[in-house]
Amino acid sequence: MAEEVKLKVIIDGIPVEVAPGTTILNAAREIGGDIVPPAMCYYSKLEGTGGKCRTCLVKVSKGSEKDPRPMPKLVASCRTTVMDGMEVENITSPDVVEARKAIVEMLLINHPLDCPVCDQAGECKLQDLGFEHGSAQTRYEFDRRTFERIDIGDKIQLHMNRCILCYRCVFVADQITDKRVHGIIGRGDHSEISTYIQNVVENDFSGNVIDVCPVGALTDKTFRFKNRVWFTKPVDAHRDCPTCSGKVTLWYKGPDVIRVTARKDEFGEVEEFICNTCRYDKKETIDWKLEEPTPISDQSVIASNHYTRFNPPAVIKIDPVLQEQNLEQLARTEKLK
Ligand code: SF4
Ligand code: FES
Repeated sequence: MAEEVKLKVIIDGIPVEVAPGTTILNAAREIGGDIVPPAMCYYSKLEGTGGKCRTCLVKVSKGSEKDPRPMPKLVASCRTTVMDGMEVENITSPDVVEARKAIVEMLLINHPLDCPVCDQAGECKLQDLGFEHGSAQTRYEFDRRTFERIDIGDKIQLHMNRCILCYRCVFVADQITDKRVHGIIGRGDHSEISTYIQNVVENDFSGNVIDVCPVGALTDKTFRFKNRVWFTKPVDAHRDCPTCSGKVTLWYKGPDVIRVTARKDEFGEVEEFICNTCRYDKKETIDWKLEEPTPISDQSVIASNHYTRFNPPAVIKIDPVLQEQNLEQLARTEKLK
């Protein structure tokens, strides 16, 4: 068998070998850690994403072994493929850090600073970027774009003021559901996410638009204003679902499941898309086989109220039916005593 060709790239001084066709962003993800550029629009599980938000800009200081000239401008790492011998600077380049600050400033021009009341707070990529790169003052003097909130069906609410036009939800609707009824209408400053004459988004997988939205523009109406995410306890669980993999994260408040989401990986991307039945209609512990507490990065605000040992909801300990359903979990609980 022919030996697989690998291209050598150096990102922020760290070498990595990747297959031809790999983007700089994915090469950086193979290394992992702080040198991975932020990505607000690229989503590895959705084809065609990327190239919209510019948060992933990096500097290519050496084009390749054959042509070592640097690239004249910063490039979107999610859309630029690697060349053999390429050298890339991300957090080690003052130009990139400066550019990222400017991108964040641009993204925040129309985005309201309503984190204290936004359901996405604590899980919002723009909030993280604002924290890392944002400035305390705005230089923008004009009126911000404002929209009325729109109910897209009975489970999803669109708050267009917060949308950064990343297109992820449009790709979800195109690729994961069987019928897309929403998209981006208008051009330039008039662009907005809209359903065609406010059609209802009702597909088995439509709820995934909530999980891929990097900000709080698309929120789960069954969870809105129920709790701050850092007061909840996420637990991985699964069920035999005929429609999807049934692998989810349950978000507990005391003994109650107040939200069900898909599981997310270290880059904040959904591991497997889940169906609406799992997301909206299975909010009892008895519906699920519990696994382990969801691993949460120490950097995340959610970790502030976290625990390292399994801390199952009290209801399991006292309810024989739930114990029957979750025998493994009960055994773990007993072991911890
Ligand atoms: S609603 Fe969310 S996912 Fe859709 S384009 Fe706007 S920011 Fe992106
Ligand atoms: S993640 Fe690359 S442009 Fe948005």
